[in-house]
Amino acid sequence: MLSKEEMIRKDNEYIVRGWGKVGEPMYLVEGKGPMVKDIDGKEYLDCSSGLFSNNAGHCHPKIVQAIKDQAEKLIQPSMRHSNIPAVELAEKLAQIAPGDLKKVIFTTGGGETTEMALKLARGYTGKWEIIALKNAFHGLGFGSIALTSGAKYKKDFGPVMPGVVRAPHAYCYRCPFKYPECDLWCADEIGRIAEDKGLSASHNGQIGSVIIEPIQGSGGIVPPEGWLTRVREICDKYGLLLIVDEIQTGFGRTGKMFACDHEKVVPDILATSKNVGGSLPAGAVITTEKLIDDFNPGTTPTLAGNAVACAAGLALINTLIEEKLVENAAAMGKRLTEGILNMSTSKYVGQVRYKGLMGSIEFVLDKKTKEPMPKKDVNWILGRLAEEGILTSASGPCGNSFRVQPTLDINKDQIDMIVNTFDKILREYDK
Ligand SMILES: Cc1ncc(COP(=O)(O)O)c(C=O)c1O
Repeated sequence: MLSKEEMIRKDNEYIVRGWGKVGEPMYLVEGKGPMVKDIDGKEYLDCSSGLFSNNAGHCHPKIVQAIKDQAEKLIQPSMRHSNIPAVELAEKLAQIAPGDLKKVIFTTGGGETTEMALKLARGYTGKWEIIALKNAFHGLGFGSIALTSGAKYKKDFGPVMPGVVRAPHAYCYRCPFKYPECDLWCADEIGRIAEDKGLSASHNGQIGSVIIEPIQGSGGIVPPEGWLTRVREICDKYGLLLIVDEIQTGFGRTGKMFACDHEKVVPDILATSKNVGGSLPAGAVITTEKLIDDFNPGTTPTLAGNAVACAAGLALINTLIEEKLVENAAAMGKRLTEGILNMSTSKYVGQVRYKGLMGSIEFVLDKKTKEPMPKKDVNWILGRLAEEGILTSASGPCGNSFRVQPTLDINKDQIDMIVNTFDKILREYDK
């Protein structure tokens, strides 16, 4: 095997990585459950779950077995011919998806899935404008990047897809209106934007759909109770299709199979990806028979419906159900929230926002003024967490929200270890 130094040299020479300019590459060589091991043998609790794509835990034996079994039979047929694991996974997705969503278009990744959802919505409505929220993340392809907010993603690439109209997101912690007295002003604003045909209108009279994340993943925002229901009502009132991006919330992470299930909301189009292929590349748009009737998705992506990815995805969903990992996510998210709120250093905790194991912890310098913890301090804490054996990241509207989202098989002791480690590091920070 190459030495670590040689690996870093070759990595820098050949691989272009999104995070390439941030720190030195870390070579993870093994994963088991919520844990990963690096090339030096150091173990970490992976609170980023491989970017949230290992919901049943790293290298779950049932998923590994499904991959091995399928790989020995057939790996990549063309979707002109279909294959057994693709049919089985599509049926399972239809069973677990909300309401009457049952038609599945397979893709190979998240951004591609939101782009497929966009094509479907434009084709069905005949309208080319779409409402997306502030602080949203829907991917970085040329269509999805337009839905994603944040100038940093777009500034070097010229005009991106036109037709995206921005509406407020449900960030109660820093909102001038107080929940519940606000009566979900932010959700209603979607309706006011759609309704506005006057001189102040921010659109061209061509809005056909709305895309939201039920919990903003990269954004680290959990909307309040009733928000999703209100968004659905507004879409119905104004004749807009509701696209729900469950690429990160999907498959149990929020303590329900889909985040929509918390409020029993049925979208018109559901986009999901990170766990569709049981940690292998895959994605799926799930929609109704009515919407799909005249839609021609085209003959690609070539690798969509890959037999091994579909077998792995089916094994992942079955594992979540058999091992009650969705319920565990709900319980562990609650324990994490309570633990963080009760730390001896909780003066730095502005807000803990969780549904299941989806959410974030926002750190502030002063609870009254809500002054965000500065980026350099956030980075120092991230570095100390890694030294103490916890891998995680920070994002959110002010860059100070720690996105602790471990795999759903995490246990109480591991949750307590996360809390105690944060507390220990914040005590050092205090000094
Ligand atoms: C909610 C959401 N949508 C879309 C994407 C894009 O997925 P991918 O990175 O697979 O293109 C992500 C990725 O983090 C996401 O969290």
